[in-house]
Amino acid sequence: MRILIVGNGAREDALSWRIAQSPSCEALFTAPGNAGTSTRGENWNIAPTDGKAIVERCIQERIDLVVLGPETAIAAGVGDRLREAKIAVFGPNRSGGRLESSKTFAKRFMERHGVPTARAAIVHSLDGALKALENWKGGVVIKADGLAAGKGVVVCDDVASARAVLGDWYGGNKVPGGGNDVLLEAKLEGREVSVFALADGRAMLPIAAACDYKRAGDGDTGPNTGGMGAYSPPLGFPDDMFDQVRERILAPVLRGLLAEGEEYVGILYCGIMWTKSGPFVIEFNARFGDPETQVLMPRISGDFAALLKSAADGAMDLSLASVGGQSCVGVVLATSEYPRVSTPIAGLDPDISLPEGSQAFWGSTQAANGRVMAAGGRVLTVTADGEDLHEARERAYEAVGVLATRLGSKDLSYRTDIGKL
Ligand code: AMP
Ligand code: GLY
Repeated sequence: MRILIVGNGAREDALSWRIAQSPSCEALFTAPGNAGTSTRGENWNIAPTDGKAIVERCIQERIDLVVLGPETAIAAGVGDRLREAKIAVFGPNRSGGRLESSKTFAKRFMERHGVPTARAAIVHSLDGALKALENWKGGVVIKADGLAAGKGVVVCDDVASARAVLGDWYGGNKVPGGGNDVLLEAKLEGREVSVFALADGRAMLPIAAACDYKRAGDGDTGPNTGGMGAYSPPLGFPDDMFDQVRERILAPVLRGLLAEGEEYVGILYCGIMWTKSGPFVIEFNARFGDPETQVLMPRISGDFAALLKSAADGAMDLSLASVGGQSCVGVVLATSEYPRVSTPIAGLDPDISLPEGSQAFWGSTQAANGRVMAAGGRVLTVTADGEDLHEARERAYEAVGVLATRLGSKDLSYRTDIGKL
């Protein structure tokens, strides 16, 4: 197959690394890609949201399968355009993508179909928000409706701090992601886990799970980020985690999608809070996670590209690839002021090769004149696998040490507690 991956982060580099090793992959392209994907095939200078240009180029290049990486491509309707052109695509249409792109849509969908989730109020103004908080008990999680690159959620321990955040958002006219719709959600207690379900329009099955680290600093301190590290598989969850997720979450979601005429193809990423009364959905994403993908891909063997194609064709065949029993830990190296500012770094060493069992995936970067330019933000994800979490973690940090020295940039920082339980 001739395959196009859409996106330019470390998630897409990891997908590209695994897909390039799939027996059914003949040629690989990425739009727009990064320094890593350029080593495995051609990078097309096309924005992930430019559906028209993507379709035209796919026809020219006789592409057999497109894999959509980022939520922006899904929300821009790139999947719809590809399907109109009869090109196989792994990733939902814009309407299915609303499970991620609109938190109010997702909340109403879950309420309609009995998916366990925190109780919530949807508000459109400061007055409405203050009214909703009048008899509120406990903590409040404030969520801007639209896509806000991980910056649209504030967790408040009490109503007073929630009022202050809402005053700032509405008063300063700065609801993240634009728009006025905001979700106020009861704060749930428990442990977070991300479960990835594969969907082919008719079925939806959990294939793997991971834990990610969203806060910038060690010990879960500092601002929320796109993700500073991850490990897979998660530890400390019930043995029948997948069965529970399938019964309580995926079954009603699938019934709901079908009842609403939605053929959902791609990954449904379920962000779950595992509470004393079982799993509750705190968010859906309509795509692979970043950095979770970087710790999933090393665990997969078989023909991953063929698996994605079978799902895109409406008949997923899980025998084509499998997820191994090893553990994998991934540590994100980001520019020091991330997520406040994204300072570009020029002239990085392109050589990120590591001993077998460790990998490094480039984030938003470009290769030019034998060096790598990083746009800033998340520059690299360094991963390693091991027989258990402890071994994977030791090896991942050993690899981080090697690379941080080789890259020689003082502008990179990382968390030191990824995978430390
Ligand atoms: P989200 O973007 O919806 O995943 O939210 C970002 C982070 O906020 C999550 O990873 C959780 O740590 C936290 N969060 C979101 N919703 C809740 C909730 N209802 N209760 C507790 N924490 C939450
Ligand atoms: N790691 C969280 C996300 O991909 O949204």
